[in-house]
Amino acid sequence: MSNVYESTHPLVAHKITRLRDISTLSKKFRELVREISALMAYEATADLLVAPREVETPMAKTTGYELKEPIGLVPILRAGLGMVEGVWGLMPSAEVWHIGLYRDERTLKPVSYYNKLPIAPTVSVCLILDPMLATGGSAVATVDILKKWGVNKIKFVGILAAPEGITALQEAHPDVPIHIATIDDHLNDIGYIVPGLGDAGDRQFGTG
Ligand code: PRP
Ligand code: URA
Repeated sequence: MSNVYESTHPLVAHKITRLRDISTLSKKFRELVREISALMAYEATADLLVAPREVETPMAKTTGYELKEPIGLVPILRAGLGMVEGVWGLMPSAEVWHIGLYRDERTLKPVSYYNKLPIAPTVSVCLILDPMLATGGSAVATVDILKKWGVNKIKFVGILAAPEGITALQEAHPDVPIHIATIDDHLNDIGYIVPGLGDAGDRQFGTG
């Protein structure tokens, strides 16, 4: 699969296993989502552009680098919210733009309920944050929104994906790299990832 990057990092594998565990409660679950998200963002941002910047150390002047392009973090509500803190900690100057979508339980199609993007884009790179790529409908709809907004450098950063979701996102938006901690086996007949971790929103927010 081109443009799909599945993590091979041992720390990610270890934390994913604890995240999946049915006995992991909300507080620990949120901690793990935050930590895995930071590790995934580190991997996903390896090709960000930098510009040279002069810096004066206590010893001498030298040339360092700073991030060149304004970055937007785009969590898909609700479950993507838990990924923000870990990623934002690495790039505190990023803007955070929330997109509210939920899956209709019957059709599994995304339904939009929140979007406050201003008319003109304020960032040039967007990282979409959502732990779950299941049918891919929510991710495809979010990329549609961001491209319409005028942003063309977009990456999807997630935790678990079903092969069906990867295929759907790649077919709709082959230019969007998918950075995912683990690709699971399949979707079940109600659209849940198997083996998965259950409902990522409910497990983070204690609403299951
Ligand atoms: C979950 C998840 C994704 C979506 C993935 O959200 O966080 O946004 O499902 O499914 P898809 O790939 O089939 O679109 P959900 O609709 O359960 O809403 P929530 O985060 O508010 O619980
Ligand atoms: N959303 C979730 O939270 N879990 C799944 O397995 C699929 C979609």
